[in-house]
Amino acid sequence: MKKDKYKQQFAEATAQAFRNVYPEIYAKVGDGDNAFSTEFIYNSLETPKDRSMGRFAFPVFRQAGLLKDKPPAIAAKVADETTRILKSHEGDQLISCSKAVGGFLNGQVNPEILAGETLRKVIGSSNQYGNSDIGKGKAYLVEYSSPNIAKPFGVMHLRSTVLGNSLRRIFRKLGYDVVGINYPGDWGTQFGKMIVAYEKWGDEKTLEGNAVQNLLALYVRYHQEVEQNPSLDDEARLAFRRLEEGNPDALRLWETFKKISHAEFDRVYGLLGVEFDWVYGESELNERMEPLIERLETAGLTSISQGALVVELGDDQLPPLLLRKGDGATLYATRDLAGMVYRWERHQDFHESLYVVNSAQSDHFKQCFKTMALLEEAEGVPLDERMSSRLKHVGFGMIRFGGKSMSTRGGNIVLLEDVISEASRLVREKIKEKNSDLAGIDQVAHEVGLGAVIFAQLSVRRQRDVDFDWDKVLNFLGASGPYLQYTHARLRSLLRKSGLEISSDVDYRLLVADEENRVIELIADFPQIVTDVAEQHEPYYIANYLLRLAEAFNSVYQRKDDEGNIQKIISDQADLTAVRIALVRAVQVVINEGLYLLGLEAPEEM
Ligand code: ARG
Repeated sequence: MKKDKYKQQFAEATAQAFRNVYPEIYAKVGDGDNAFSTEFIYNSLETPKDRSMGRFAFPVFRQAGLLKDKPPAIAAKVADETTRILKSHEGDQLISCSKAVGGFLNGQVNPEILAGETLRKVIGSSNQYGNSDIGKGKAYLVEYSSPNIAKPFGVMHLRSTVLGNSLRRIFRKLGYDVVGINYPGDWGTQFGKMIVAYEKWGDEKTLEGNAVQNLLALYVRYHQEVEQNPSLDDEARLAFRRLEEGNPDALRLWETFKKISHAEFDRVYGLLGVEFDWVYGESELNERMEPLIERLETAGLTSISQGALVVELGDDQLPPLLLRKGDGATLYATRDLAGMVYRWERHQDFHESLYVVNSAQSDHFKQCFKTMALLEEAEGVPLDERMSSRLKHVGFGMIRFGGKSMSTRGGNIVLLEDVISEASRLVREKIKEKNSDLAGIDQVAHEVGLGAVIFAQLSVRRQRDVDFDWDKVLNFLGASGPYLQYTHARLRSLLRKSGLEISSDVDYRLLVADEENRVIELIADFPQIVTDVAEQHEPYYIANYLLRLAEAFNSVYQRKDDEGNIQKIISDQADLTAVRIALVRAVQVVINEGLYLLGLEAPEEM
């Protein structure tokens, strides 16, 4: 990793200060890598909660025992010495001073240098700001969406789609060769049910017109009738068997279900602006399961339990993985195992392979990953070459509408499209109130309505459930997608109004207000945020960051001078206007790029 030069200068000065204040300690600890070295200090730097305390904080508790002194006393002595060293630094004084706060040494960056460097970088690189090449030459697989054929695209698959799409964009920004995978459920016993339902209650007309709705109605009816008539399930098993054996009628129906569903899914992805690099359904693994089962058998990992072929996982938290039922049918897990091998064959040595799938399936993934690990171990694959250690389940919570979660079986489902069009309709009304003659209002309303729906999924940590509340997700002034889009549009409008050519060659000394420095620090944090998101697979950090940035900027905008006059961005002082416009441009670039990384559009005007 490239070193942050601000941190480096602070760590160097602090290490030197320890040496000056406590020369005798080095007789004890030596000169190498110890709790007083630049390296150690650099790696221990924390971010103070209250950023007015400084940009980094170094806790001195570890040193207290060795120095036989109290942390606040150590901090006070070392801070003074550090500041003295920093002031005498030749070349750029990136850090202006070190302050003792309790047992911490807090480094303050030189705001003028940070402002100049940061804004020049952002303005010069525009939407490339925060790009990195840490992923260069490495494949990153991300599976998301993966809805089921012959069922509508409900909101349950929305969160996976939105999370995965965002992760794909983020990993790309970091230079990885990202493969976005969609793995629709197009195989399994539910197709037996669909075939039975179609043969009993459907006809040609079912497959025309609003075919997706008609198929859903069949599906719901099946689940109602089976309550009265459990033998339907036996018929369904037979029907699926026919499909597996390649019966032409069964196959034809299945193909039709698939075609109808895919047309529907593609429309939804178009609406959402979501893309994939590789799409294959569960059925594509049919030929790949037998060889996988043989590998497991050869490795001595399988056993028979109540007639079924299983893998015992040697873990009392996990039930055995079921490979093949007594009647010979393979399962969802069997296909996932075959799929892991398939992905590895196609993208050998991938850096990681993610499964963005709701947390209800977390045991399923634990079982599959464990099985793969046992297999590689049994086959003697060296540790650093194992695929199994690069598989990750990226789980997430439910979406609730008015406290209800969604299930297809009960027919109690909220269609994604209905949610999006309702959101656009409500946004359109709001825009009409404010800006009644906005050009292209329908497109903007669509982008903002969609923004509301997407942002609602990403603005809470992924493991938490989302409570979808119309007032909250559409609030132009609250923690919502529309709020960020609206802030962005206002920045654009300021830039247009200024009539200025954006330049980063401005007088940064004029940015003196705390509010402005706060914004600059946030902008300087952006590249780090992007990296953190990638490490934690948590786009929420970007969502949360953008809200903080927008808020920080809004307080610059509303700042009053001593006489209570609002400090205008655009004033008759040319130098001041120029530097403030540079700041506005930088914020606009970062919000624009942040929204892009989350999967939201950033309209120019709204
Ligand atoms: N189609 C499945 C479902 O809707 C999700 C598939 C998740 N991906 C996987 N590799 N198992 O429940």
